[in-house]
Amino acid sequence: MTPYRFAGRTAVLTGAASGIGEQLAYGLAQRGSHLVLIDVAPLDAVAARIREAHPALQVETVQADLSDRAEVTAVADRVLSAHPTLGLLINNAGIALGGRFDQMTVDEFETVMNVNFRAPMLLTHALLPALTATPGGHLVNVSSLFGLIALYGQSAYSASKFALRGLSQVLRAELAENGVGVTTVHPGGIRTSIATSARMGSKVPADQIAPQLRSFDALLTFPAEKAAAQILDAVTRRRARLLIASSAKLPDLLARLAPVGHTKLIALVTAAVNSRSRPSTASPNPVAD
Ligand SMILES: NC(=O)c1ccc[n+]([C@@H]2O[C@H](COP(=O)([O-])OP(=O)(O)OC[C@H]3O[C@@H](n4cnc5c(N)ncnc54)[C@H](O)[C@@H]3O)[C@@H](O)[C@H]2O)c1
Repeated sequence: MTPYRFAGRTAVLTGAASGIGEQLAYGLAQRGSHLVLIDVAPLDAVAARIREAHPALQVETVQADLSDRAEVTAVADRVLSAHPTLGLLINNAGIALGGRFDQMTVDEFETVMNVNFRAPMLLTHALLPALTATPGGHLVNVSSLFGLIALYGQSAYSASKFALRGLSQVLRAELAENGVGVTTVHPGGIRTSIATSARMGSKVPADQIAPQLRSFDALLTFPAEKAAAQILDAVTRRRARLLIASSAKLPDLLARLAPVGHTKLIALVTAAVNSRSRPSTASPNPVAD
């Protein structure tokens, strides 16, 4: 497959208002892509910055809640009718949910599945005709380290990210026939607001919420801008799989060396890192990403 060409083509990007998605939006614009930016949060500031720096690019914003099936379908219809041909779709929007499985409601679990898995599935399915309209398109699904390993306290998040990884890997095989590449991304701890905006299961005891969120946040150290640059480089090179930061690469290696035993080891190391960085906030059930 030839390297992906960004300039002059349209990219659809979810979760563009902050974190990795915001940096992806800037990186795509720098590479000359027209943009359709989607987020539940306002996108005005990101779009204004791009329009100012790149006045020749078309930048469209869509504010929508991707946890809502009807909203996802409406967004997809709108994008498809305006853009019968697309170069790139990046399913990046995601949310985290802390707490044990018994400490969350089924509705809370489902919301994570809906944002992290169902929305990418629906958007990809609806936009496939535009992505395959001309050869050379590309699809990116942002899974997680927790799409590779499954640790205590990550039931909904891991379930959603494993599901996305599975879909993404199948699509890589299937879409090759149409000349469309697929990259599955597994970030480790990236410095974004995912921890501060993370939800907690409604039955997590109140005194555990702040320490767990702080422990989670302490593990997010890799710059979002660098993560975005690596993702766009992987798109250029049509890479199947991208692990970002040693916080993803080392656990992945451990999981392959010790398919069962790695979970305890990683939980111990995570707890040790947490207690070193913030002695008062160490949690027995680290929520880490
Ligand atoms: N930061 C990390 O350490 C890390 C690690 C592994 C995977 N990831 C994944 O990377 C992706 C980007 O996360 P981030 O770290 O940049 O976090 P972030 O919170 O900074 O960005 C996520 C974006 O998704 C948007 N979003 C959330 N719910 C939405 C909804 N219902 N509808 C539409 N948009 C919604 C948010 O408004 C936000 O702009 C996510 O899929 C996340 O799971 C992040």
